[in-house]
Amino acid sequence: MDNNIVRDYVKEFILSNINLNMSDKLRKIEEEALENFVPIIDKEVQNFMSMLFMMNKPKRILEFGTAVGFSSLFMYEQLDGDVFITTMERDEERIQNAKKNFELFNCGDKIALLEGDCFENVKYLDGKYDFIFIDSSKSHYEKLFNICIQNLSKNGIIVFDNILYKGMIASDDLVKKRKKTIIRNMRNFIHNVTRNENFSTSILPIGDGVMILRRKF
Ligand SMILES: C[S@@+](CC[C@H](N)C(=O)[O-])C[C@H]1O[C@@H](n2cnc3c(N)ncnc32)[C@H](O)[C@@H]1O
Repeated sequence: MDNNIVRDYVKEFILSNINLNMSDKLRKIEEEALENFVPIIDKEVQNFMSMLFMMNKPKRILEFGTAVGFSSLFMYEQLDGDVFITTMERDEERIQNAKKNFELFNCGDKIALLEGDCFENVKYLDGKYDFIFIDSSKSHYEKLFNICIQNLSKNGIIVFDNILYKGMIASDDLVKKRKKTIIRNMRNFIHNVTRNENFSTSILPIGDGVMILRRKF
C-alpha cells in the first residue's frame, strides 16, 4: 500500500538503491526497535542525513526525541564519533533502553541524554549547535523551533522529521479526526516558517516527509 506520500514502487526503487554503511551493532538496534514498534528514522532519512553530514560535518548536534537512541547512534557512527550530541527523551522505558544502547557503543562522553520533557530541558542548553534534529511530538514543532533557533550556529541547519505526517499535512481527505489539532499546528508552522524571509527551507517527500532549514543571513 502507498504510504500516502510517494507510491510504493518509488519508495521501493529508492530503498533498493541505498547503500549505507552501518555497524552490525547498530543494525541490531534498528531491527529491535522496528520489531518493538518504536518509531525510528526511515532508511531514506538515514541516507539523507548521511549525505548532509558528508557535505558539512557538524561538531555539535541537538536532537529532540531520542526514543531508544537509534538516530543518535546513527549520527554518532556516521560522523566517526567526532561529534558531541545532546538528545532529549521523556519516556522512561525508552530512556532506559537508550542508555543501554549508548553503553554498547561506549560513547558516554559523546552523547548526553537529557531525561524528561524537552520543554523543561531546553532551559539547560548552552552554546550553539551545527545540526538540530527535531523528531519529538509533532504538535509542538513551531514552539520547539522558536526556542531552539537561538541555539543554531550561523551556518547550522535544522532537520524536521515527519513533516508530511502520513500525507495528512497535504490532504484534508487523509486527516484522522483525532489528529486534527496536530495537523492544524503543523500546517500553520510550515506556512509561517516557509514564508519567513530569514530562512531557506525545503520539504522533501522522503520517509514520512522531511524539512530542512537554514538561515539566509
Ligand atoms: C519518533 S520518536 C524519536 C525517534 C528517534 N529520533 C530515532 O529516529 O531513533 C519521538 C520520541 O520523542 C519523544 N517525545 C515526544 N514528546 C517529547 C517531549 N515533549 N519531550 C521529550 N521527548 C518527547 C517520544 O517519547 C518519542 O520517543
